[in-house]
Amino acid sequence: MRRFSSCVDDLLRRPEIRRLALRRAHHFSRNRLQHCLAVAKLSFYTARLIGADSRTCARAALLHDWYFENRGEHRNRVGANVHHPQIAADNARGLGEPTAVIDIIQTHMWPYGGRTPRSVEAWIVWMADNLVWVTDLVASAAVYLRKKVRRFLYGSSREQGYAA
Ligand SMILES: [Fe+2]
Ligand SMILES: [Fe+2]
Repeated sequence: MRRFSSCVDDLLRRPEIRRLALRRAHHFSRNRLQHCLAVAKLSFYTARLIGADSRTCARAALLHDWYFENRGEHRNRVGANVHHPQIAADNARGLGEPTAVIDIIQTHMWPYGGRTPRSVEAWIVWMADNLVWVTDLVASAAVYLRKKVRRFLYGSSREQGYAA
């Protein structure tokens, strides 16, 4: 049976992909490489479960957010949402990835960008991406709220010192 690592190890060894870890707080508490790996893993196992192309899913998902914000069109969120799938797709094409992978990357932000996913694999990656970022949002909100509530109830560390 195909293993997840055998599908993505060559990509993870590349310094230009590992640089994604430098982009911190991608969807709140994770760096961009962690996010892409989580989406790749979820996509891979979902595809394997339903008999879709797990290797294509894993590679497309790992590369789906391969972009950096040092470009003019990313000065605002809307710009990033619309443009980054094309930038990531161009980067993946530069590595020689096949059309099936490129198509998935280009449509992963649907309905942003207007291009609808056209394969089962594209829908798997689309779903995995959304599940992962919503999970990260909820987890980050929980941590933030816990800190706020604790501070409200028990005060600053100086105030806590009075009660010690
Ligand atoms: Fe994205
Ligand atoms: Fe993403």
